[in-house]
Amino acid sequence: MDGNGRWAKSRGLPRKAGHRAGAETVREVSDACLELGIQYLTLYAFSSENWNRPQNEIDALMKLLEQFLKSKSKEFAKKNVRLQTIGRTHLLPESCRAELNRVIEETKNNTALTLILALSYGSREEITDATKAIAEKVQNGQITPSEINNQTLSNHLDSAPFPDPDLLIRTSGELRLSNFLLWQLSYAEFYITQKNWPDFGKKDFREAIENYARRQRRFGRVSSSK
Ligand code: FPP
Repeated sequence: MDGNGRWAKSRGLPRKAGHRAGAETVREVSDACLELGIQYLTLYAFSSENWNRPQNEIDALMKLLEQFLKSKSKEFAKKNVRLQTIGRTHLLPESCRAELNRVIEETKNNTALTLILALSYGSREEITDATKAIAEKVQNGQITPSEINNQTLSNHLDSAPFPDPDLLIRTSGELRLSNFLLWQLSYAEFYITQKNWPDFGKKDFREAIENYARRQRRFGRVSSSK
């Protein structure tokens, strides 16, 4: 969800105004998923590296997240949305964690869309944590090193309950992964748009999906038409 800061700057507004507008886009894009029958949406809302931002911006983002969670409960129930997270969420402020836990519990049986917020998330940290967990199982004799395969690692990631993403959308024209789902995006298609996240709407999301639908995915194999 890149470009909130630039969106705000171009309007002479503080960065937090960009994040507030960005939170509105979250609703638009979630609604678009529901309309299109897309069952999983993962949003990179706060990275491990974002803790290095100025404290007032971190505070504004945490407050925004809390408000978002408080205001969305009813909507999630009505629209059948399940909220989940990935990342080191134990590092978030207590008030945010309490809201997150509440909404996760409240929405756990919803089935139309799983909205996954990546919070205090870094893919390298996630892979490191998974490696430690596997090493402990080897040490305890629960598995042997020769039994470890791709699936073992996938099963120990925060994202274990969710399928790998088919499509990565990055806004504001940046051509980087920025420590996002490095393992899980191995065969994902990329879609880069110049629009800043707050300007990215339902129509843009549909365009991204239509573009994706025209791709031919080969997963390393030779195309059937060749
Ligand atoms: C990146 O843009 C965006 C973030 C670090 C925060 C994303 C947060 C939101 C969209 C709102 C809160 C989320 C929820 C789920 C309520 P940037 O600040 O790096 O923009 P810039 O590159 O233009 O400076």
